[in-house]
Amino acid sequence: MAFKIGLLGLGTVGTGTAQILLDSNGRNPLLEEIEIYRVGVRSLDKARTVQLPDGLVTTDLESIVQDPEVDIVVEVMGGLEPARSLMLKAIANGKHIVTANKAAIARYGDEIFTAANAAGVYVMLEAAVGGGIPVIQPLKQSLGGNRIHSVIGIVNGTTNYILTRMQTEGGSFKDILADAQKLGYAEADPTADVDGLDAGDKIAILASLAFGGRIKLQDVYCEGISQIGAADIAYAEKLGFTIKLLAVAKRDTPSHLSVRVHPSLVPKTHPLASISGVYNAILVEGEPIGQVMFYGRGAGAGPTASAVVSDILNIAAVLKAEKASSQHKSESKIENSKSKIESLHPLLSCSHQEYCAIAPMEELVTRFYARFLTKDRPGVIGKLGTSFGNHSVSLESVVQTGFQDELAEIVVVTHDVREGNFRHALEEIRNLEAIDSIPSILRVL
Ligand code: HSE
Repeated sequence: MAFKIGLLGLGTVGTGTAQILLDSNGRNPLLEEIEIYRVGVRSLDKARTVQLPDGLVTTDLESIVQDPEVDIVVEVMGGLEPARSLMLKAIANGKHIVTANKAAIARYGDEIFTAANAAGVYVMLEAAVGGGIPVIQPLKQSLGGNRIHSVIGIVNGTTNYILTRMQTEGGSFKDILADAQKLGYAEADPTADVDGLDAGDKIAILASLAFGGRIKLQDVYCEGISQIGAADIAYAEKLGFTIKLLAVAKRDTPSHLSVRVHPSLVPKTHPLASISGVYNAILVEGEPIGQVMFYGRGAGAGPTASAVVSDILNIAAVLKAEKASSQHKSESKIENSKSKIESLHPLLSCSHQEYCAIAPMEELVTRFYARFLTKDRPGVIGKLGTSFGNHSVSLESVVQTGFQDELAEIVVVTHDVREGNFRHALEEIRNLEAIDSIPSILRVL
């Protein structure tokens, strides 16, 4: 066997990866040259659904990242630590990395890629975003001839499943979340998914690739779906929209990007409106390609392992070509870290050094939807209109169809407006005597 894998983690993704590597028949023939050499797990007692040759599995993860025989460390254990430290140690020992760990890469990508470039090794992360959907390599390679204008994704299956069911069944967020947890579509602790943090990690990674710079995670605005009510779903439907949790990276001005996660009203005619259930999709817009959309299953053993194995194949292919020209390589003795970066395949490595400038949310220009509960008396809509007008917010539509506990329900959709102006108008509106509350404020795509 030519290439030896040290697999860290034998959970859902690790098992799916091992299953592909142990059954290469009918797949890319390069897989026959790839061997699962060692497997690191937290506990040897857990029942496993994959049959591994004897003696491969250990709880000594450190020994795997230090093993001189291992060429590629596949980190599919998840979590921040010890995943981060093990990846850094593996890199220091000259191992290439394949990881599905969006949380670690979004937080420590800077440290991990700097170390990898200095060591002259690859860090590949196709599985970190969109599960089985090929989107990382397309952004690095196939779309390399484009200027990317925007990347807009539905990149969290849990929230898309909940929103889809709220739309088809008309239930409340709380009830459908509880049911999704019972059915195993949502985690026992759903915070990272429902608060938009998982999608935030993913859009930080996509933005970095699309716009060629590093992204500070704290610059990524994240808003989840827990405040969305059945009433919003119904109003959106009436107005010709569907509500989706979107992860957006967009070049708003030549020098400013916005990178954000929030629920949005998506016109039903938009390509992302029809992505339902646990499916993910990523819509990339660039020049000259126009729109291109990647669609598929964003989680699960098979799809995520498919992405992990594609990364292993990419590394193995490059290493194999290098081996073939090893004579030439040994003559050009690579010694300093600068030449180590240069020794990496430029379409597989990550060479961004600068941080992208991310615009504050007040500068965002977007349409808004807002739902107000007000006293039902003459002049209330007029007062709302005046407050919006005072802050240069132009309204596209105002509807009053419902009542909730004696209060009138008024829904407003604006034209494009600077977010800061909209927020100032809302402050003024909150102080109007006739306003009871503003249960939801959503952006419109
Ligand atoms: N928790 C994620 C989701 C899957 O719901 O899409 C892993 O990224």
